[in-house]
Amino acid sequence: MRLGILTGGGDCPGLNAVIRAIVRQSIRRYSSEVVGYLEGWRGPVENIVMPLTLQGTSGLIQRGGTILRTSRVNPFKQERGPERIMESIKKNTLDALVAVGGEDTCSVAHKMHSQYGLNVVVVPKTIDNDVSATDFTFGFDTAVNIVADALDRLHTTAESHNRVLVCEVMGRHAGWIACYGGIAGGADYILVPEKPIDIDDVVATIKKRHARGRDFSIVVVAEGARLGDSPTLKDIEMDTGHAKLGGIGEQLAKIIEKLTGYETRASVLGHIQRGGSPSAFDRVLATRFGCKATDLIHEKKFGRMVSLTGNEIIDVPLEQAVDKLKTLDMSIMKVAETFFG
Ligand code: F6P
Repeated sequence: MRLGILTGGGDCPGLNAVIRAIVRQSIRRYSSEVVGYLEGWRGPVENIVMPLTLQGTSGLIQRGGTILRTSRVNPFKQERGPERIMESIKKNTLDALVAVGGEDTCSVAHKMHSQYGLNVVVVPKTIDNDVSATDFTFGFDTAVNIVADALDRLHTTAESHNRVLVCEVMGRHAGWIACYGGIAGGADYILVPEKPIDIDDVVATIKKRHARGRDFSIVVVAEGARLGDSPTLKDIEMDTGHAKLGGIGEQLAKIIEKLTGYETRASVLGHIQRGGSPSAFDRVLATRFGCKATDLIHEKKFGRMVSLTGNEIIDVPLEQAVDKLKTLDMSIMKVAETFFG
């Protein structure tokens, strides 16, 4: 067989590990050939391809980013985008495509499969961990480790100065990173997109903590968290498409300082959470996903997504992964709340 790979949407640690696994499994196990499409869906739309060999993909497991690069190009918003993808598949004599991406990539893959007959399998990735029908996406664990490390560092300086430090983390629609990172880093309050910010409760919790002699606090806020009266991200994105987030941490720090009287500063972790080497967990998950996706292609099981369910790698129909985000499990937030204040 001949198969293509693309990586779409925001990058995350582990993408290169998936590419390496697909190439290795295809060549060694199935004697198949693999090509890479560059820059997400732009690759097949504009027919930008490169060969992927064992040699060219060795030593990649620990490398962050993606050697195929990525983009947020949506072929359904390009002139004859889907038709051009099918032409490129034909031109390169490909039997199937593995699309590695988040929710947007899943939706495009689903439409390409159901409306144009593209033989496609999806591997879910995103640091946000918000893709449905899989317990975890790779990239998430690395991001959580980066947040935990940052909170450890913020703790020592917050304590030295008797400050409240607000740490803004990624997570546009879901608070997985904020919640897991906050639990791991011992946060005193965590704010997530799933629940409007109750500023009175934040202030009361910090004051209570300071009243019991802890003169510093760490607050973690997801970039998608919203103050009660501000528009939701979903409303904003209806008008503008993929909105650039950031700023809630700074906004919150000003309010906390004003209402508590404690000196408060904000730090934004931003793309630091997406860069660098994947954690060991993400390397293993990405490798398992890549091998399973390759098997599915060779079994001609198309229109499927690989998924971590429990500790097993299974495959699910793409319909299960599209149109609904996997928001934070609020029972985990309950655990986090035990340590607030
Ligand atoms: O979807 C992953 C993510 O990292 C979000 O948490 C964040 O809002 C977004 O990507 C940022 O995307 P970009 O780097 O394109 O601005």
